[in-house]
Amino acid sequence: MSSSRNKVIVPHLIERKNASEALTMVTAYDSTFASIVDEAGVDLILVGDSVATVMQGQKTTLGVSMDHMEYHVQMVASVKPKALIVGDMPFGSYQSSVRDAVNNAVRLIKAGAEIVKLEGGVHVREAIEAIVRADIPVMGHIGLTPQSYHRMGGNKVQGRTDGAQAGSRERIYKDARAVEEAGVCAFVIEAVPADLATQITTAVGVPTIGIGAGVNCDGQVLVLHDLLGLSERSFTFAKAYSDLRQISLKAVAEYVSDVQSRRFPDPSNGF
Ligand code: KIV
Repeated sequence: MSSSRNKVIVPHLIERKNASEALTMVTAYDSTFASIVDEAGVDLILVGDSVATVMQGQKTTLGVSMDHMEYHVQMVASVKPKALIVGDMPFGSYQSSVRDAVNNAVRLIKAGAEIVKLEGGVHVREAIEAIVRADIPVMGHIGLTPQSYHRMGGNKVQGRTDGAQAGSRERIYKDARAVEEAGVCAFVIEAVPADLATQITTAVGVPTIGIGAGVNCDGQVLVLHDLLGLSERSFTFAKAYSDLRQISLKAVAEYVSDVQSRRFPDPSNGF
């Protein structure tokens, strides 16, 4: 546990890539979990738009609003973590104009984010450049981009086809180059074959953070609820390091039984 460690800052990311030291990122959406993952020593806390599927019970991430993201970033920022706070830009907050992209990135920074993350490659290049010009660090996200749910026909592994179309191997490589040239400080590579992620990681000068992209990325990211075994579903790309869903179920069932049988509260819980 690392409660006394130094604050992670953006320049550390490139230093870590150059030193071949793996970066760790996990999601958190509230102050309780933010304080736990921070104390455990992660480098980056991602306030992801996965809040939609993980916390809001949605099927996709498309319904998350800027107000939602600001609220969750504020909760995470309230614990003043040593880890860098990455605020996800939700669907619709950067696609329609560069001006919107900059204004919404500014909103997340004012809420407490230290980096903003947005999805896409070649097509979001201008948005990334404009946000970077506003002096806001940007994290890219290529490969499986959950906000492209309808175009992809679901959350499907990308980079398995040849050709120039979105989702092809060649295009994902171009997306990586585009976000790097646009000025990102790092980028996520999600659900692509490990050899493609390795090729990209070797070619680019900024850190890559993989999820379902093999062990050779410069870092890894997981959704906290998958890591803790809180999710109802399990995913090939994730690893559950605990079984908190079963542990929680057992605890709450025991409480229900204690109340029903009048074992709780006992005199030690009273005044
Ligand atoms: O929103 C999120 O949790 C993400 C990760 C899966 C990278 O974007």
